[in-house]
Amino acid sequence: MAKGKTTAFFCKECGFESAKWLGQCPACKEWNTFVEEPSGKREPAAKRGISGKGDGIAGNQFQNAKPSRLSDIHLDEQDRMKTGYEELDRVLGGGVVKGSLVLVGGDPGIGKSTLLLQVCRNLAADSRKVLYISGEESLKQIKLRANRIGEVKGDLLFLCETSLELIEHAIEEEKPDVVIIDSIQTMFREEISSAPGSVSQVRESTNILMQIAKGAGIAIFIVGHVTKEGVVAGPRVLEHMVDTVLYFEGDRSASYRIIRGVKNRFGSTNEIGVFEMVESGLSEVKNPSEYMLSGRPEDASGAVVACSMEGTRPMLLEVQALVTPTAFGMPRRTAAGTDYNRVNLLMAVLEKRCHYDLSHFDAYVNITGGLRMNEPALDLAIIMAIVSSMKDKAVDPKTIIFGEVGLAGEVRAVSMVQQRVNEAKKLGFNTCVMPEISLGKMGKVEGMRLIGATNVREAIMRVM
Ligand code: TYD
Ligand code: MG
Repeated sequence: MAKGKTTAFFCKECGFESAKWLGQCPACKEWNTFVEEPSGKREPAAKRGISGKGDGIAGNQFQNAKPSRLSDIHLDEQDRMKTGYEELDRVLGGGVVKGSLVLVGGDPGIGKSTLLLQVCRNLAADSRKVLYISGEESLKQIKLRANRIGEVKGDLLFLCETSLELIEHAIEEEKPDVVIIDSIQTMFREEISSAPGSVSQVRESTNILMQIAKGAGIAIFIVGHVTKEGVVAGPRVLEHMVDTVLYFEGDRSASYRIIRGVKNRFGSTNEIGVFEMVESGLSEVKNPSEYMLSGRPEDASGAVVACSMEGTRPMLLEVQALVTPTAFGMPRRTAAGTDYNRVNLLMAVLEKRCHYDLSHFDAYVNITGGLRMNEPALDLAIIMAIVSSMKDKAVDPKTIIFGEVGLAGEVRAVSMVQQRVNEAKKLGFNTCVMPEISLGKMGKVEGMRLIGATNVREAIMRVM
């Protein structure tokens, strides 16, 4: 092999580099994800600088090397652009930051292009100049999609291109405020010999986009498909390079979509935004609790309403459990939408601390709506759903339950109690079972009966 042109093996899930092929990635523990790729010499890093002074894309590297005093750096309100969707702005930490690089990941067909096109439409209507670059769809296809989402006004430009050199040139020419790259896996740089979508192409392309974003103060959204097969690198490879990482989740068979912030240099993570896919694209779901509880069986045993905090927002959801005698052998346990090990742990607490014999029962626990919720505050609701199903006794449908459960069977305090209770009240609940210790922090709430519990046994007694 020619000198300087060596190859290495990369994990296409997380980008881990290894000199030899490995069956399992030591970094992300995925199996069979290594692909061989050239690992050529890279350009010297930060050739263009990322100071964000907005002095053109190819800023002078010596100018940029001058340190600045923190008090001399000025921010203005204009640095955040509203996307027109409160749900998305909250996840972004209050709008899109100028000069930031945002990765939007998700399964193919989940609605990433649709959402970004709608965001572009809103930004353009807000007199921003937007450049949408697609490497996947033709202009005609984009036009068809745009027709579905409604009228487009203002400076919204489209470009179908996959070569980064040409894209860079177009950005320099047009000087947009916002750029969309759909998707990073179709983009390529000519200097790199591997195919588009490979780990090195995806990384190097992102590197260039990062320099453009920081150098020229342009907000860039990068779409990344989550891939399961083939040699195409997944968006996780890029997570450490970008400012903000959003994942678009949801069951493709159901119409709701959740956008979740997993990394954010400009705001908190854990925030979620909820959307619904309708005929005319994605529409915001401003009250997800109502949405999650619709169609709830009111007098079925094993169903309990709980309240989980998603970032700063309380969200009511239904926890269901089905406990049935085991036909033979080992009892079966499953947990959908929550942590399997946590459910096993809670069942062990029930056995040891409350003397329920669960060893001859199968237990299936499900968070309805297809969401994944792992907040410890759901513990008490999960326990209550299991007990309710086992006793075949329904919990009062106007009661919500939350609290963390410890190994000694104690009910521990949770955060943001007031918000949870208020949300429950808003949706017409009249009783709230919560940790005794959190009760002390609460004032009286009109029309809401607050019941404290110090341990699981006491909570079960109060509810059933
Ligand atoms: P898309 O944005 O193309 O997904 P991604 O870019 O993440 O791959 O979403 C495509 C899906 O959305 C497709 O299955 C059809 C559906 N859809 C609607 O239901 N309504 C609409 O108005 C649009 C534009 C798409
Ligand atoms: Mg798409």
